[in-house]
Amino acid sequence: MEEIPVKVAVRIRPLLSKEILHNHQVCVRLVPNAKQVIIGKDHVFTFDFVFGKNSTQEEVYAVCIKPLLVSLTEGYNATVFAYGQTGSGKTYTIGGDHIASVAVDERGIIPRAIQELFQHISEHCNINFRVKVSYIEVYKEELRDLLDLETSVKELHIREDEKGNTGRISAVKFGILGLSFYCC
Ligand SMILES: Nc1ncnc2c1ncn2[C@@H]1O[C@H](COP(=O)(O)OP(=O)(O)O)[C@@H](O)[C@H]1O
Ligand SMILES: [Mg+2]
Repeated sequence: MEEIPVKVAVRIRPLLSKEILHNHQVCVRLVPNAKQVIIGKDHVFTFDFVFGKNSTQEEVYAVCIKPLLVSLTEGYNATVFAYGQTGSGKTYTIGGDHIASVAVDERGIIPRAIQELFQHISEHCNINFRVKVSYIEVYKEELRDLLDLETSVKELHIREDEKGNTGRISAVKFGILGLSFYCC
């Protein structure tokens, strides 16, 4: 069978203090020893990776991202994006907050991946690496280049497929944070 190059991980975040204060309840459960979650009473969903509320940044990185970093240094491209409702934990997981304001253990994917990539490059001075990075946010209907906030949103486009489908986003509280590395 052809291997699908896209893998999907789901991460359940813990309730925030304000949610506990308002007596919100957890409605998602992990199925032990299966990569599945149950929403509500009996809606079961299967993923490539499942992380519970006590999962650490290190665990998410080691399981999902480290293998990509290895391929990246061998010349393959890799893209990681976090997808979910506002407040679901995209920025926390991808590590998009200002690095100085985040404790080392709490650092997300971006600072870990960048550190490991440049560590690898510095240990292989006999190889020429060229690294290009893009860091894009899709929010509502707009694409934003987070490395160049001066770029007008109008200059960034969602590409269409051959049928003209753009996969445009209609939900309001919705965001994607993506990081792509190209190594050549
Ligand atoms: N796995 C987690 N563990 C602890 N706190 C988390 C976790 N994921 C998210 N949070 C907290 O939840 C809140 C919302 O997360 P955030 O990453 O800002 O959401 P989003 O970027 O999807 O809107 C933040 O206060 C964040 O620190
Ligand atoms: Mg965010």
